[in-house]
Amino acid sequence: MAATGSPLRFGIMGCADIALRRMLPALAAEESAVVTAIASRDPGKAEAVTKRFGGEPVHGYDALLDRDDVDAVYLPLPAVLHAEWIARALRAGKHVLAEKPLTTDLDQARELFALARRQGLVLYENFMFLRHSQHAAVARMVADGAIGELRGFAATFTIPPKPAGDIRYQPEVGGGALDDIGVYPVRAALHHLPGELSVTGAVLRVDPVGGAVLSGSVLLHTAEGVPAQLRFGMEHAYQSSYELVGSTGRLLLDRAFTPPPSLAPVVRIDRQDHREEITLPADDQFRNVVVLFTGAVATGDLLPEISAGSLRQAETVARIKEYAVRRPAVAVGKGVNE
Ligand SMILES: NC(=O)c1ccc[n+]([C@@H]2O[C@H](COP(=O)([O-])OP(=O)(O)OC[C@H]3O[C@@H](n4cnc5c(N)ncnc54)[C@H](OP(=O)(O)O)[C@@H]3O)[C@@H](O)[C@H]2O)c1
Repeated sequence: MAATGSPLRFGIMGCADIALRRMLPALAAEESAVVTAIASRDPGKAEAVTKRFGGEPVHGYDALLDRDDVDAVYLPLPAVLHAEWIARALRAGKHVLAEKPLTTDLDQARELFALARRQGLVLYENFMFLRHSQHAAVARMVADGAIGELRGFAATFTIPPKPAGDIRYQPEVGGGALDDIGVYPVRAALHHLPGELSVTGAVLRVDPVGGAVLSGSVLLHTAEGVPAQLRFGMEHAYQSSYELVGSTGRLLLDRAFTPPPSLAPVVRIDRQDHREEITLPADDQFRNVVVLFTGAVATGDLLPEISAGSLRQAETVARIKEYAVRRPAVAVGKGVNE
């Protein structure tokens, strides 16, 4: 264990794209954290990444968990591998900052949070977008009556196709588009709508060759009948947005899931004959994650409310998987009846 007041010592499990682009720079910039070791299945890769971000290169993930100079593991492995390695890290006495989705299976998610509680360790599912202040600002506007009474929610997260071989096209490794991308609009709906969300409809387009979910569309609703229409996938133009529709207006937030730290978000509110744009302060969700996590470890706060949110999320995704109609993603024409 690091001395009290010392930075939390992180070991990185896998030289993932998201680690290199976002989390390693955020960890390097924050004084409450220090990266002491970076592990890869490929020793050359670990070596190259430590040259950029510091720490000792480590060959293999078991060797990372054996190290005494690692208090916490940042785990950006492909989604289906999360459960096994989170469990191993917790059993080795490490706090875990795991990439989303925590797991691709509800029972595993429940078991992992129970294990973390028994071990007295922080386990955090890294939905970074939730740590951006723009969502609380939106919630305040809605609570203050900016759009009247809430009548509906809609969210979209779609990206263009990834290169062949990407983990998302391998269902037994990356899990596919629902587990990797669809979880964002689901989480946004849970964030803005009260209570449990039931599934009314779900269609998933599945790669006829490899079997991965490529995209999908989901209709959820609250107990009061407020609908949430969600769209996601990796066979589209880029879109990352949500909207809240009310009795007197509509609120739209673009760049909802991936705002860079330099971006001052713009919330658009449309009412009859009136359009308003409100610019919010820029915020750094990557830094905020690091501050929250290191603070939780320092104070012994196991973040029970955030863990409960992760479990609600896992329950909702499990219900969507159970309900969904799956169809092969075959090419369709540009229009109908042309
Ligand atoms: N929070 C966010 O904003 C955000 C954004 C993007 C992705 N993510 C999540 O982060 C995770 C990683 O996504 P990514 O796009 O960064 O993935 P990626 O670039 O493919 O990296 C995954 C890493 O896992 C390791 N790995 C271990 N076994 C593997 C296997 N069988 N196949 C492939 N890689 C394997 C590899 O590290 P070594 O070769 O070094 O061992 C690889 O670099 C996913 O859960 C994803 O959903 C989160």
